[in-house]
Amino acid sequence: MKSLFAVLFMLMVASPCLCSRIMADDQNRHFDVVKYGAKGDGQNDDSQAFLKVWHDVCGAKGSPILLIPKGKTFLLHPIVFNGACKSESINVQLQGDLVTPKSVDAWKWPDNSKDAWIKFSDINGLVVNGGGKIDGQGASLWKCSSNGDCHRPTALHFHKCQNLQLSNLTHINSPRNHISINSCNGSHISNLHIFAPEDSPNTDGIDISASSNIIIEKLEVRTGDDCIAINSGSSFINITDVACGPGHGISIGSLGKNGTNATVEEIYIRNCSFNGTQNGVRIKTWEGGSGYARKITFEDIHLLAADNPVIIDQHYDPLTAATNSTVKVSDITYRKVRGTSAVEEAIKLNCDNSIGCTNIVLHDINITSSVPGMNTYASCNNAHGTFSSSTPKIPCLL
Ligand SMILES: *[C@@H]1O[C@H](CO)[C@@H](O)[C@H](O)[C@H]1NC(C)=O
Ligand SMILES: *[C@@H]1O[C@H](CO)[C@@H](O)[C@H](O)[C@H]1NC(C)=O
Ligand SMILES: *[C@@H]1O[C@H](CO)[C@@H](O)[C@H](O)[C@H]1NC(C)=O
Ligand SMILES: *[C@@H]1O[C@H](CO)[C@@H](O)[C@H](O)[C@H]1NC(C)=O
Ligand SMILES: *[C@@H]1O[C@H](CO)[C@@H](O)[C@H](O)[C@H]1NC(C)=O
Ligand SMILES: *[C@@H]1O[C@H](CO)[C@@H](O)[C@H](O)[C@H]1NC(C)=O
Ligand SMILES: *[C@@H]1O[C@H](CO)[C@@H](O)[C@H](O)[C@H]1NC(C)=O
Ligand SMILES: *[C@@H]1O[C@H](CO)[C@@H](O)[C@H](O)[C@H]1NC(C)=O
Ligand SMILES: *[C@@H]1O[C@H](CO)[C@@H](O)[C@H](O)[C@H]1NC(C)=O
Repeated sequence: MKSLFAVLFMLMVASPCLCSRIMADDQNRHFDVVKYGAKGDGQNDDSQAFLKVWHDVCGAKGSPILLIPKGKTFLLHPIVFNGACKSESINVQLQGDLVTPKSVDAWKWPDNSKDAWIKFSDINGLVVNGGGKIDGQGASLWKCSSNGDCHRPTALHFHKCQNLQLSNLTHINSPRNHISINSCNGSHISNLHIFAPEDSPNTDGIDISASSNIIIEKLEVRTGDDCIAINSGSSFINITDVACGPGHGISIGSLGKNGTNATVEEIYIRNCSFNGTQNGVRIKTWEGGSGYARKITFEDIHLLAADNPVIIDQHYDPLTAATNSTVKVSDITYRKVRGTSAVEEAIKLNCDNSIGCTNIVLHDINITSSVPGMNTYASCNNAHGTFSSSTPKIPCLL
């Protein structure tokens, strides 16, 4: 008997199997993707190693850490990290770089998902940070976008998340939008650098839809499309200290496409800059939609030779036949919007012909022309509201 206990005891100490089971209950256990077979040489496909490590991370209790080490480049085919996980929170420490396969034809798509290159779905308390880089190598896909014969995915997609934290990363050259947040509640997104060429198609920085209680701060976004776009079903979103440009500026919408019911409210956009962007702060809706965009504040907006610095466009698709319904735009405040416009029409409030926009408030506006000797002006269509201390003046407000 005695020797049997001794053998059992020795097994417990020596067995890696028992050991790892004990360690799995450790609060902050590290899972290194290299130990799961990832090569990180930028050539071999590391997708299987990432799925294996994810299986263990997602199954671990407590707050596991998935380490993607520095100094390596991991090649991933389109991949889905699914929850729900056992862990209370998961920290993905992305210290190294992630890249797509170079050739478009080489991409292997999973059966169930073609919308993103890297997708995280149904995970609570996910933290992604670490100073690494996510490189979508989109150039070959941007070219084939014009003849529509290739599929261009979002680079990084978060779907159904609670309390997501995303920070301290660089995102470059996504085939389409760099980051999309959908059906998430409670997210903190900060200290990201998002870069793609000015002429790359649809390379939005961050797209948000059907999500609430989101804080976005301290970003630098230079891309070919929207800096940040806020789409239907979104509310309580604060965006501060974001430097945009080149690109298309910060956009609410487009909303109400193809007769859909869109709702956006309680959006605060503060201390953001627009350098050489195609728009500054924009609200765009399609004719024929329903719902609302309301309680939206733009404050401390810095403009440097931006086109369309302040724009509400309720006729976003001029080809749609006029209809009798619209997304209702109301309670929109612009405060301390300053700097230069590259076009004379610095403020354009082009509201719906029948119900118009209501309670549009502009205060402390100073938008001058970036072209010496040129003036700026405001135009309105059915815009109801007030202005004070404004250059240009906005006498067209009803
Ligand atoms: C970003 O991540 C790197 C690597 O982990 C770290 O050294 C650095 O302190 C982080 N920066 C911030 C602002 O968190
Ligand atoms: C979002 O989270 C907050 C705080 O945890 C909670 O009160 C609220 O009900 C959640 N909303 C949704 C739509 O899940
Ligand atoms: C968002 O900004 C508004 C207005 O400044 C503020 O009242 C609110 O507390 C902010 N929300 C968060 C979560 O920071
Ligand atoms: C405004 O944002 C910029 C980054 O774009 C930042 O450097 C600056 O400190 C912010 N200003 C304030 C008052 O927070
Ligand atoms: C627009 O809506 C109609 C009717 O709901 C639908 O048949 C059509 O496919 C939609 N078109 C697009 C482009 O989504
Ligand atoms: C604005 O953008 C131009 C060209 O991209 C750049 O050279 C310049 O430094 C930027 N200005 C500011 C204030 O960021
Ligand atoms: C649009 O959605 C909102 C919020 O869910 C709802 O209150 C409203 O009735 C809907 N409108 C239409 C026309 O479906
Ligand atoms: C639009 O007009 C049609 C036909 O007159 C009517 O049936 C429909 O209820 C109207 N819709 C709205 C939102 O007013
Ligand atoms: C508006 O900005 C211009 C250019 O920066 C400046 O010269 C002018 O004094 C400003 N006007 C007001 C009322 O602040």
